Amino acid sequence: MDPLHRVALAERPAPPDDDPAWWRRAVIYQIYPRSFADGDGDGIGDLAGARRHLGYLAELGVDAIWFTPWYASPLADGGYDVADYRAIHPELGTLAEAEALIAEALALGIRTIVDIVPNHVSREHAWFRAALAAEPGSPERARFWFRDGAGPDGSVMPTAWTSPFAGPTWSRETRPDGTPGQWYLHLFSADQPDLDWDHPDVRREHEDVLRFWFDRGVGGVRIDSAALLVKDRALPEVPDAPGPGEHPHQDRDDLHDIYRGWRAVADSYPGTRVLVGELWLPDTERFVAYLRPDEMHTAFNFDFLARPWARDELRASIAQTLAAHAPVGAPSTWVLSNHDVTRPVTRYGRADSSFAFARKRTGVPTDLALGTHRARAAALLTAALPGSLYLYQGDELGLPEVEDLPERLRRDPMHERSGGVDPGREGCRVPLPWSGDAPPFGFSPEGARAEPWLPQPADWRSLTVEAQLADPDSLLQLYRAALARRRDDADLVGDDLHWLDLGPELLAFRRGRAFACLTNFARVPQPLPAGELLLASERLVDGELPPDSTAWIRLADPALAEP
Ligand code: GLC
Ligand code: MG
Repeated sequence: MDPLHRVALAERPAPPDDDPAWWRRAVIYQIYPRSFADGDGDGIGDLAGARRHLGYLAELGVDAIWFTPWYASPLADGGYDVADYRAIHPELGTLAEAEALIAEALALGIRTIVDIVPNHVSREHAWFRAALAAEPGSPERARFWFRDGAGPDGSVMPTAWTSPFAGPTWSRETRPDGTPGQWYLHLFSADQPDLDWDHPDVRREHEDVLRFWFDRGVGGVRIDSAALLVKDRALPEVPDAPGPGEHPHQDRDDLHDIYRGWRAVADSYPGTRVLVGELWLPDTERFVAYLRPDEMHTAFNFDFLARPWARDELRASIAQTLAAHAPVGAPSTWVLSNHDVTRPVTRYGRADSSFAFARKRTGVPTDLALGTHRARAAALLTAALPGSLYLYQGDELGLPEVEDLPERLRRDPMHERSGGVDPGREGCRVPLPWSGDAPPFGFSPEGARAEPWLPQPADWRSLTVEAQLADPDSLLQLYRAALARRRDDADLVGDDLHWLDLGPELLAFRRGRAFACLTNFARVPQPLPAGELLLASERLVDGELPPDSTAWIRLADPALAEP
């Protein structure tokens, strides 16, 4: 980018620099822009819609918003196939609107986090188009993983690695004369060719993309598929039980150097610009290695997200998370869901309430009333934990997963590539209900020319923002009250957590001097320790905490928690 342009941008409002540690206990709201709010009436959420609802987010009490990719893209994977990292998708708006949005959010004290997708680009990205147009062995192809196939006619793909989207990870190009040519690697779909991170252009370009967005005032970046970028150049098969750093395309040691470079870029800006990693790694030690002081700031806690609604499971996850983060000095994150997984209200309403991509199916019996009680309890439980909190749009409204979307609208490669076995991820991406009694529930402006791009269930009337603002017992009101207290309560500012032993069916801990959070996993109400009730996810029954609910109290006797 030309330096003059950068000078002009530097005059834009900088993030509020009053708190360089803002990210350590921030509440970050995830926006899936196509489904948040539609400003121009085409049935697709956009930046105009998001700008209109910034006040809603300020009142909800969030510190930052993370936008899933808003860039130019053919949308082969919901925007995670980026054609141009410096351009906004025309259906969502313009770069000028994104800049305005970032500034308007900042004026409300809300930072913006953008999604950076470094592992792969879209087939439509200029680099990949140039690579396909060029010959084998050309510099254009060297930014990707083009390889000849094995066998006499080159028809055997270079490795048998399988994709997280099911199926093979190599596709063969068709040459202009119609003959098959080289294979290229794509850990995800064939529309998402992987970049070769050993290539200096790839590194330079991504650091420049970071600067492009930091120059526009963003408070941080979410790093997509952050553990996958580096590959073993020898392209071996995946061993049965790879030891630390031995997997050919996951969690390789050279990744750390890449993120040290990114951290240096982030640290060269005023205020704290954060790096948030998407790292699905089973080994917590390997996971927290990415959070050393000169690497990422935080990473999503998928262990917690995947746990079932069970006291010992959640307690173990919290304890392990805190213990693993302590040595690197990074705060934990708490995540109940995102745009890839089953909505909590639905997941917690099932006999098996854990999450795993491999087990996602439709038609599983679900008790939504039970799931809603648990999601309410989980909201208070997670909001009471030390560290930062992620809230996926619509979870504050208790939206269920939409499982009966028409087949013709399902475009998720997870669905297609599984041969229809995996229902796909659109069920948690249905446009939000804002107001009114019928679709589009205020998602699009009155008199809009098009219907929402994914149909909303007709019975979402009681789940709209409007309906929930009018109901003091709604989940939205519970979230607003919880986030306000989380921000202001002096007992919640530290990083401490002290377990309270109140029997095998209560998950209970103290924060600060006398704040206690208690969740009841028993089938019957449980007595609470003496104190002042601050907030509860359900009404108490004769002074006792009902099943599947959480209470926040100020303990009358803080000594209760002494070790
Ligand atoms: C991440 C994203 C997911 C996307 C994948 C490939 O897991 O969260 O939505 O499909 O990366 O980019
Ligand atoms: Mg629109």
